[in-house]
Amino acid sequence: MAKIITIERHILETQKQFPEATGAFTNLMYDMALAAKIIARETTRAGLAGILGAADDHNVYGEQQQKLDVFADQMIFKINDHTGRLCAMASEEHEGLIEIPPHFDTGKYVLLYDPLDGSSNIDVNVSIGTIFAVHRKVTTGERGTLDDLLQPGRKLAAAGYVIYGSSTMMVYSTGHGVHGFTLDPGVGEFLLSHENIRIPPQALYYSANQGNQKYWTTGVNRFIQHLQGMEGEPRKPLGHRYIGSLVSDIHRNLLRGGIFIYPGDLQKPNEPYGKLRLMFEAQAMAFLVEQAGGYASDGLGSILDIQPYSLHQRVPLFIGNRDLVELAEAYIRRYDQDWIAAYRPFRERASQPA
Ligand code: AHG
Ligand code: MN
Ligand code: MN
Repeated sequence: MAKIITIERHILETQKQFPEATGAFTNLMYDMALAAKIIARETTRAGLAGILGAADDHNVYGEQQQKLDVFADQMIFKINDHTGRLCAMASEEHEGLIEIPPHFDTGKYVLLYDPLDGSSNIDVNVSIGTIFAVHRKVTTGERGTLDDLLQPGRKLAAAGYVIYGSSTMMVYSTGHGVHGFTLDPGVGEFLLSHENIRIPPQALYYSANQGNQKYWTTGVNRFIQHLQGMEGEPRKPLGHRYIGSLVSDIHRNLLRGGIFIYPGDLQKPNEPYGKLRLMFEAQAMAFLVEQAGGYASDGLGSILDIQPYSLHQRVPLFIGNRDLVELAEAYIRRYDQDWIAAYRPFRERASQPA
């Protein structure tokens, strides 16, 4: 019989190999696995429990929140607020830094999360996810500050996602490869199912919201025509698959090979940065995909090198097989100098003198 490795055992064994990993950090990963199990339970019972549908609230982007977004957001906070492992948190659903309540101890990590990703897919029974990222505290006070949260992805201590699909999976990396665990609902444990995930060298799919094509820049359009086998070097066309849940789209491409694209455009020249959030979506996914041998870019360079300036800043995202992402960059350099001129100040904003 094959060895059965729970996520707990895997975390503990990894910790032995890498002495820099502390007990606090190990437990933080385990806390996220617990949050994932509880959110998975709710997402699968959501229709029955009658908690589907939009809540009254809108989130900080003016988008209508679904009730499960609120549930997942509060669950992740509650599981992590009192453990003494974190000094601050931030969530896609909250405007500012989330403080650890004053009566609880603080620790040396910060947690950023998108509690439910792809929430427009909840009501139609399509896969959704959770994304999380962990940075080390860099300031010296007892409580965490924005400086602890606003670090480039290159400095991440860990990142992961959970996908609530035909099965529930948690995929995470602490910078030593990417490992995937599938939830066995009968025993309530995540079991190691995908050890050391590497993105296959031959891409099968491209994923983009083709409905936005009229807004795409010339370089992005030509690049996608290339993926369809109609532009530049002849190639076999890639299949087009787009779910509209970042986690699910990237998970599929990570296992099968492919590229996910959510570009910036000049539809509103003052907002050339696309839709996805750097701190809650792009950083974590970029860290995981690079750990699996791929690459993630905003069209100019690595997502992981961007020094953030705001918790909720948005960023263009090209992520997947390295050769394809680099080719996207080349098309953008060649055809999209006007877009680059509009977007570059956002990429470099945090490094400019105030
Ligand atoms: P969220 O549900 O957390 O707001 O994220 C939705 C995101 C992401 O999951 C997905 O890739 C993208 O929105 C889809 O956007 P379009 O509907 O514009 O294609
Ligand atoms: Mn999201
Ligand atoms: Mn979300």
